Amino acid sequence: MDKIIFVTNNQHKLQEIRHLAKDKFNIISLSDIGFDFSIPETSPTLEGNALQKARFFHEKTGLNCFADDTGLEVEALGGQPGVNSARLASDHDYHKNMMYLLELMQEKQNRKARFRTVIALILDEKEYLFEGIVNGHITTEPRGNNGFGYDPVFIPQGETRTFAQMTLEEKNKYSHRQRAFSKLIDFLQNLYS
Ligand code: IMP
Repeated sequence: MDKIIFVTNNQHKLQEIRHLAKDKFNIISLSDIGFDFSIPETSPTLEGNALQKARFFHEKTGLNCFADDTGLEVEALGGQPGVNSARLASDHDYHKNMMYLLELMQEKQNRKARFRTVIALILDEKEYLFEGIVNGHITTEPRGNNGFGYDPVFIPQGETRTFAQMTLEEKNKYSHRQRAFSKLIDFLQNLYS
């Protein structure tokens, strides 16, 4: 196996994983194969959403594939926004969602949070899950202009800067998504070496 489909149209994620996979695996996106169904994402958990996306694609094509889902889990909010991270205040409006999170956190002393990425892989009719986590905390105001989403309000453990104050390379040393992607690539490499 040298080719595998990533059930995404997000070019940023695609670049990240292609960089890790180097020339070991050819990661193909949905647009590469002209697959333009809207993919359902209605599960109450990250695991459920990642599996739902991978299964939807697999049922339509019969091809091996993987899909991901990510959430910001804040301890003082009982793990919210979690699976609802992209639509906490407003659908896919990064700024509104981030400002609303700060509002919810206004009186909170416990500011611990983590990003969690789950990847679901369907390979030769078997399903596998991989997880990547970065622990950290939520600031009281946004800092930095890089990145996206909640990056300006998240400081990973062992750092003083937010993700938005780091270069992409610096962020990737901690990144939940990179950790999950690395586990997937290691797994595939072990299987096929
Ligand atoms: P997705 O499942 O990767 O699309 O992520 C869902 C939501 O989580 C995004 O819309 C962002 O709000 C947030 N998110 C995911 N990854 C990151 C990240 O690396 N930094 C900041 N926010 C993120």
